[in-house]
Amino acid sequence: MLIVGNWKMNGAAGDLASLGLIANTVRHTPSVNVVICPPYTMLATVSTVPGLKVGAQDCHEADAGAFTGCVSASMVKAAGAEYVLLGHSERRLHHGETNRIVGAKAAAAIKVGLIPIICVGETAEERAAGRTSEILVEQVRSLSPLPRGRYIIAYEPIWAIGTGTIPDARDVERMAALIRSSVSHEAMSSGVPVLYGGSVTDINAVEFLRVENVDGLLLGGASLDPIMFDRIIQLCRYRSTI
Ligand code: PGA
Repeated sequence: MLIVGNWKMNGAAGDLASLGLIANTVRHTPSVNVVICPPYTMLATVSTVPGLKVGAQDCHEADAGAFTGCVSASMVKAAGAEYVLLGHSERRLHHGETNRIVGAKAAAAIKVGLIPIICVGETAEERAAGRTSEILVEQVRSLSPLPRGRYIIAYEPIWAIGTGTIPDARDVERMAALIRSSVSHEAMSSGVPVLYGGSVTDINAVEFLRVENVDGLLLGGASLDPIMFDRIIQLCRYRSTI
């Protein structure tokens, strides 16, 4: 079970104190890995908190060069990260990231030993047009050159991110199964971990934790509320009984 907290462009040095609470719960919950994805400037500091893993929210596909404002996969790794979020819908929307760019970034991340958490998901318009499966398959198939078993996929319906609207758990189950089967028809495909993300709270987390094909959660807003974040981690502890 993997719980990932995406702080987006939030977080200040004072927020680090609240990570002590999370770290303590994680220590008593060995079945759960918690990854915090703070802004780049806080990667090194968060990586010193025992028991927590750290991820960046993006990286550049090149190793180094004249790319003002960008950070490479090896730099992220050197700052203490083990994971990197890639292809988040906010990157795809605001920074024009295509499936090709996301795939190239993921390859660069894997090359230096990071584990990419690659976000896929459909817009409200695509959903209304009945194109959800087509969009997901296209996004996932674009990852086929990547070595299997070296990355994680997060299913994040774009219309569910930050809106308070969540999909039906049965739809998430179907989409997670579709994602797995689209990665490859080979036996290894069953090994691709799939997370759910989009408006998860301590109230609705149980619905998604119960879904058979879901291996964890990607939290946005909930990861900024230490009490809620902590409750969600505690729920994972009892996953087998919920
Ligand atoms: P949210 O964000 O949980 O605030 O909806 C999720 C995400 O953007 O990864």
